[in-house]
Amino acid sequence: MNEAGFLKASKEERLSISADRESTRKVVSSSPEETESLGERLAKKLSPGAIVALLGELGAGKTCFVRGVCRGLKVKERITSPSFIIINHYRGTLPVYHIDLYRLKGPQEFLFLGYEEYLFGEGVTLIEWAEKAEPYLPPETLSVSMRIIDETKRELSFSREPW
Ligand SMILES: Nc1ncnc2c1ncn2[C@@H]1O[C@H](COP(=O)(O)OP(=O)(O)OP(=O)(O)O)[C@@H](O)[C@H]1O
Ligand SMILES: [Mg+2]
Repeated sequence: MNEAGFLKASKEERLSISADRESTRKVVSSSPEETESLGERLAKKLSPGAIVALLGELGAGKTCFVRGVCRGLKVKERITSPSFIIINHYRGTLPVYHIDLYRLKGPQEFLFLGYEEYLFGEGVTLIEWAEKAEPYLPPETLSVSMRIIDETKRELSFSREPW
């Protein structure tokens, strides 16, 4: 349906259309491999300067998703969690900055990371624990919230249509 059609639709129809739109932004992954594939699929849509914020508790699958994005961008290095060094820099079809803010004490500490180089450069920036720097992330950031449903299932919610 185009925009004119949307405006003409009854309120009930509109509600279900928006709900559909909402549900296309949510995906349930049933395995780590599936989460990786979702990351790989997203990689095809990322252009230079893209920022992806990964939100969600410990073990939600953020690093797993990052691995998939990196595979999609043909990164050859092994992807490990940069918890201690905060930023890993990989080379793929685009530069990839993999940031993990778990150990950040407060949002302001983010400013000391020299984040401009990452966020406003030509690479793709993937930020785990992005909630910790939320006030400093530009509005075009795509956020992916990951929720643990059970041992093998994760719900991924995208802030906008990802593909
Ligand atoms: N559907 C799934 N998607 C992703 N990971 C899953 C899934 N099911 C089970 N897992 C397991 O959950 C764990 C996810 O680990 P991962 O390091 O990706 O999480 P994380 O969100 O990066 O955690 P942290 O906050 O510690 O960085 C892995 O052990 C993985 O095998
Ligand atoms: Mg991680």
